[in-house]
Amino acid sequence: MGPAGSEKGPCELKQLFVDYRDAAAACPVAVAPSGRGVDELGDRLDTYGFAIAEMPGSLSPQEAIDFLAKSWSLGEPYVPALYRLPGAEQFNRPYAEIRADDGGDHPGFAVRSAQEFHVDGTLDGPGDVPTVLMYCVRPAVQGGESLLFNSIGAFHALRETDPAAAAVLTRPTVLRRSSTLRGVEAHTDGPAFVVRDDGVIVNRYSDVPSTTTWIPPDGEEDALARALAFVRQESSSDGRYRLSVRLAAGECLIVRNDRVSHARQSYQDSAAQPRELLRATFGTSPQ
Ligand SMILES: [Fe+2]
Repeated sequence: MGPAGSEKGPCELKQLFVDYRDAAAACPVAVAPSGRGVDELGDRLDTYGFAIAEMPGSLSPQEAIDFLAKSWSLGEPYVPALYRLPGAEQFNRPYAEIRADDGGDHPGFAVRSAQEFHVDGTLDGPGDVPTVLMYCVRPAVQGGESLLFNSIGAFHALRETDPAAAAVLTRPTVLRRSSTLRGVEAHTDGPAFVVRDDGVIVNRYSDVPSTTTWIPPDGEEDALARALAFVRQESSSDGRYRLSVRLAAGECLIVRNDRVSHARQSYQDSAAQPRELLRATFGTSPQ
């Protein structure tokens, strides 16, 4: 969070009312080695909760991530809690190569199938991983689009039309997220959304069948069913709250993981042209 909570409020408020069909939402911002473009990129990130940067070709993937991290004072990459557990050592790295690997162990990274909406940081608490950078080294031959879901915007809309349904999503143990890493048994219970005292909504909405369990409090089963029907409908196709983008090589997707959930379409690639992203997550938000 920023040094003064009041400075962040208006930006997050804007995201509650944006339309992901706006032409500007999916339009990459060119970033120059001088740093020109970074301010505009930050504005996009504040407005939509994500932004796409076209990084200078002179930078390696890791340099490109470091360049943005330094520009925004993000500090060093944060390794999510799951990857710091015994048994997950091979994933305990500041930069994760997301690339299909037929012999690989990671249930999300090593496969070419679609991934449903989630926030990064399976075991982390709401808002613990506010920023995720995904740099496209090489796009897939076909498919592999990144999907962005304005989850706090959809939550706000639900709150306006069905407050009881929205309220269930804020219950402290309504959403269990579990490790599916081989040999690592762990889960974290928490809310899908937190409404902070200052009104800021923090996102933890994830709906991946293999790792997500919804646990309604007694008497709130119907309200949860209504909430999930609404959120799943709004995230099922591109529209006001959902956008698909296909990253090109050299583009970096920046996601406010505490405000937006992301997903991926399935893809096909080849041994000669494997799809590859380099990802770093941060425990801080851009300053
Ligand atoms: Fe992810």
